[in-house]
Amino acid sequence: MLRSVLVGPPASRDNPRAVRAERNSLSLFGAQWGDEGKGKIIDHLAAEVDVVVRYQGGANAGHTVVVGDEKYVLHLIPSGVLHPGKVNVIGGGVAVDPLKLLEELDGLAERGVHVGPDALRLSASAHVILTHHRRIDGAAERWRGMGRIGTTGRGIGPCYADKAARTGLRVCDLIEPARFRERLRAALAEKNALLEQVHGEAPLSLDEELERYAGVADRLRPFVGDTGAELRRWDAEGRRILFEGAQGALLDIDAGTYPFVTSSNTGTAGIAAGAGFPSNRLGRAVGIAKAYCTRVGEGPFPSEEHGEVGERLRAAGGEYGATTGRPRRCGWLDVPALRYALELNGAQGWIMTKLDALNGFEEIPVGVGYRRRGGAESGGAEERWDTWPAHLADVGELEVVWERLPGWTGDLSGARRLEDLPEAARAYVAWVEERVGTPIVAISVGPARDQIIRRGL
Ligand code: IMP
Repeated sequence: MLRSVLVGPPASRDNPRAVRAERNSLSLFGAQWGDEGKGKIIDHLAAEVDVVVRYQGGANAGHTVVVGDEKYVLHLIPSGVLHPGKVNVIGGGVAVDPLKLLEELDGLAERGVHVGPDALRLSASAHVILTHHRRIDGAAERWRGMGRIGTTGRGIGPCYADKAARTGLRVCDLIEPARFRERLRAALAEKNALLEQVHGEAPLSLDEELERYAGVADRLRPFVGDTGAELRRWDAEGRRILFEGAQGALLDIDAGTYPFVTSSNTGTAGIAAGAGFPSNRLGRAVGIAKAYCTRVGEGPFPSEEHGEVGERLRAAGGEYGATTGRPRRCGWLDVPALRYALELNGAQGWIMTKLDALNGFEEIPVGVGYRRRGGAESGGAEERWDTWPAHLADVGELEVVWERLPGWTGDLSGARRLEDLPEAARAYVAWVEERVGTPIVAISVGPARDQIIRRGL
């Protein structure tokens, strides 16, 4: 009796209401500061699932996917869209800029990728990013001055702030013109006061804004629905669902390097609320991390390399923001940070990307711990950590404790099995895997779909 309450009988044709034992979903999340190469991996795996879901973030993301000779950068639409026959879902936790969404749909259509309401579902409860959110994002950054976050300027923070303040507008408001007008009028009364009186900027005109969004409702309405209900139904039918995290664990609003973070839960913790999908139905979680590390925008980055080495990494990895074009800050792999990200998100495995970008470095430093700068010289006992010190106000003040591994030469791009890698590259992978303590289930060695070594993914 107790067993059946706790576990339940298996689902079958005779007993369709029983709990399905197997969980068909897979979640992929960034395990660093974003830009880990998630777009390519999600696109690669999309071929094997039925549904791909975005559940947080907005057009601040830039997921690059290379199909043959074509390069696509997706900001809002899930990376499964480049596979015909898949359903792509923008969940209620996403901050949706409707103009960017239409621009992205039009851009895809121009390149022959036509996305209809069967292929894209948009949650009615997702909050929308409007002109005032983008304006306030920029104004708030100027206001912060030296303390600026270095946001993407896409209105993300102000939109989520309104959501929490319960003054936001949602997709369900956007698609009802009379309601949209009323709610936008109320929002602008407050936001114009902020723009004018605090930031000294010109106010927005309600009529001009209504004009800007005219036509959006009619175009988006066919895509809109209760995507949580749809996902739960598909799950009950046994369809395979892939949850696509945007940004990275260290940019998570709760677990990241606050305040230099984005405004959502970027990892597996964001899925239940952001997709309307029960957390006890989630299957395997897999993190994605580069063989080195990058960060865009401000904020602590202990293993950052300034100067020539950083520039060499940037050139080798083509490290320029997919959304803003900003040069990314570059540095070496930070083992405790990665361990923290994987542990926090319950990762059963992780994928190492861009191993090929390390070709030709004579030596590869890896961060294995931290110590307080100047600690020993000031006479006191040296403070040292070999786990991510999430309790400290500023990890950027710490110095990294390094270990150094031998580099390799040669081209990795054709490797499809571990044995195809140079010995030193194999040794690097094995060493990192052992130190991180979570299995590496795949290694990406180039931007194309098939440039991947799979080992249990
Ligand atoms: P926001 O998300 O635009 O508010 O920016 C907050 C921080 O997150 C900034 O440091 C951004 O550079 C960073 N960020 C936001 N989205 C991404 C992303 O997709 N990749 C990398 N960094 C990002």
